[in-house]
Amino acid sequence: MIDYKTWSKSKGEIEKLTNFLKEVDDDFLPPLSDTNFERLGTGKSLGEYLGKFPKKGLIYAEKNGKVTGLLGYFDYFEKYGTGFIENVSVLKSQRQHGIGSKMLEMAINTMKKTGIEKITVRTWTTNAASIRLYKKFGFNIKKTIHNDRGNGVGSIIFEKNIGEKK
Ligand SMILES: CC(C)(COP(=O)(O)OP(=O)(O)OC[C@H]1O[C@@H](n2cnc3c(N)ncnc32)[C@H](O)[C@@H]1OP(=O)(O)O)[C@@H](O)C(=O)NCCC(=O)NCCS
Repeated sequence: MIDYKTWSKSKGEIEKLTNFLKEVDDDFLPPLSDTNFERLGTGKSLGEYLGKFPKKGLIYAEKNGKVTGLLGYFDYFEKYGTGFIENVSVLKSQRQHGIGSKMLEMAINTMKKTGIEKITVRTWTTNAASIRLYKKFGFNIKKTIHNDRGNGVGSIIFEKNIGEKK
């Protein structure tokens, strides 16, 4: 049985979500711990990174008290002028059971209520699982930045319209 929760920014949650991020750190390209988070600058810890998400801006999955998945979102991200989803991650042992889809669905539904018209999410060109996940949810490729992540690996910027059709 998986519980899906929205964080309340409590100290205990920051600790358990930081521990989760350490487990998936190397699944990101570059690893989260090497990332220059645009909103933070370099050299910040994963705990400080999590602390930047607004209350309700993190959705996480728990199974028997252990965090198995996480998704962060911002209702508005200035760089793109849209809502923004980042850090969609599921523990390796728990993948392909719909956890990523469920968290994404929850985030999209919440963001729809804010009146924002578009959502942006990014991944890298060799990340087949996330590319399929975002396409499945109706995200379209807005831009590909070739070789952005080195060694021939580029970044893909996806966008999804969530505004009311007039
Ligand atoms: C991307 C990720 C979050 C998907 O989580 P998940 O819980 O396994 O996803 P789901 O089970 O909901 O699968 C959703 C869809 O993703 C796609 N998918 C998931 N795993 C896949 C894989 N290994 N290969 C190809 N497609 C895959 C499928 O289209 C799937 O839909 P379907 O089952 O209806 O075909 C997970 O693989 C992950 O944590 N990867 C490492 C971190 C990462 O790359 N995050 C995204 C970077 S922004």
